[in-house]
Amino acid sequence: MKRIKAIYPGSFDPPTNGHLDLIERGSKIFDELVVAILRNPEKDPLFSVADRRKMLEAMTADFDNVSVDTFDGLTVDYALRVEARVILRGIRAISDYEYELQMALMNRKLQPGLETVFMMPAEKYSYLSSRLVREVAQLGGSINCLVPEIVGQKLREKMDVAHKFENGEQRVGKTHSEAKSKFRKKKP
Ligand code: PNS
Repeated sequence: MKRIKAIYPGSFDPPTNGHLDLIERGSKIFDELVVAILRNPEKDPLFSVADRRKMLEAMTADFDNVSVDTFDGLTVDYALRVEARVILRGIRAISDYEYELQMALMNRKLQPGLETVFMMPAEKYSYLSSRLVREVAQLGGSINCLVPEIVGQKLREKMDVAHKFENGEQRVGKTHSEAKSKFRKKKP
């Protein structure tokens, strides 16, 4: 029987419990699953690719058939490079469907041999997105049940730096101004 390798591409800025839920589901039906973080130099993410990779590696350490990688360029080209036959994506609600359908059909046009497989995370994560997690964290809300502990820790570290900056405790330094402005960035 052919082994099925899938990639799960995304921004993961930051990874959430919804992502983890999908990774767990994917790891059960595919022989191999690669969580692939898009390196997109045009975007200004909250977490560096290296940070996101570290968080995802820690989150997925217990899954033997899951690995974490980064890529740039087209997702379909990356999938081909790593010899994956499936692109895994999550659909939380009908509102995700249009964008995901468009992407899946474009990817099929670009590379007809690849299949996109949609999976639904648990209902309790259906409202969860990286953007909302960033916003809740920035505004001081609890993110405890929204992200794995390692991500919560990293978010709190970022917030501490941003708050110190706002209180004038730390006035200079790229990291501090970055931390402050990135929490405010609007990102889909
Ligand atoms: O987590 P996200 O931001 O919804 O993930 C979107 C992602 C990374 C899957 C998508 O933007 C993507 O595939 N980008 C790589 C460039 C590409 O292949 N574009 C054509 C998509 S049809």
